[in-house]
Amino acid sequence: MPEPETLSENRPSALARLMAGVTAHAPGITAGPVNDEPTPDEPGHPEYHRRQRAAFALSRWETAVPYRYRDSTATHPAITAWADRAATDYRDAGFLVLTGSIGTGKTHQAYGALRRIAEAGPKRFEMIATTAPDMYGRLRPGGSEKGTEHDLKRLCRVPLLLLDDLGTEKLSEWTEEATTRLVNERYNECLPLIITTNFPVRAPSGDPSPDLVTRLGDRLASRLAQTSTVVHLDGPDLRRGLRSVS
Ligand SMILES: Nc1ncnc2c1ncn2[C@@H]1O[C@H](COP(=O)(O)OP(=O)(O)OP(=O)(O)O)[C@@H](O)[C@H]1O
Ligand SMILES: [Mg+2]
Repeated sequence: MPEPETLSENRPSALARLMAGVTAHAPGITAGPVNDEPTPDEPGHPEYHRRQRAAFALSRWETAVPYRYRDSTATHPAITAWADRAATDYRDAGFLVLTGSIGTGKTHQAYGALRRIAEAGPKRFEMIATTAPDMYGRLRPGGSEKGTEHDLKRLCRVPLLLLDDLGTEKLSEWTEEATTRLVNERYNECLPLIITTNFPVRAPSGDPSPDLVTRLGDRLASRLAQTSTVVHLDGPDLRRGLRSVS
């Protein structure tokens, strides 16, 4: 009985099988050496499989990205370095906190970082991107079909989470508890979290302006301090620049 065909990545190439057939049926002919190694364009080559994973991950990224940010590219060196760590092993990356005033490109860089991870073709790519106000809307009692607890657990466990515009909402006791659970659980599981915020992580001492630490509380601030790559984006409001060009 013939051996059953398998779809294994290590199957001999079509050329190798052809040459084996020729040799079997024409004993006078000796097949020359065959380079049986798959090329990057063939199944079996690691690069072929990386590209397949990247194409799949990018299609997920495209589904999640708002239309305005479809061309986002991470350009800041600290952000690209963070994305590269996350692509290699997302449990190694820690949190990424992008601070800066309005229109400095935080959301653009955040989606760009997620795109860079997708392009690397990681073993697993699953992401949720939401603004903090949207998240709190969904997590309010009655705010989601499957129930708030189900939604919060999903946000806690998804491999990649972007929480855009954190701190713009006035935190009620309830939203504060949801944020604490989310950050704490991702911290415990060493899952990455990208946060963008208009607040500095910590205002200079003596400066009474609000900062992330005072808004989120000391327990969360301590976790953020341990695990975060903080990148401050400064410069003008890019939206004004774009308007004056057009
Ligand atoms: N590197 C870039 N190249 C091209 N366009 C950019 C770049 N960075 C930002 N933009 C554009 O500039 C505008 C402002 O960027 P973005 O929305 O990322 O700012 P932001 O810091 O998140 O602002 P906010 O604090 O209001 O949320 C957007 O239209 C965005 O598409
Ligand atoms: Mg933004």
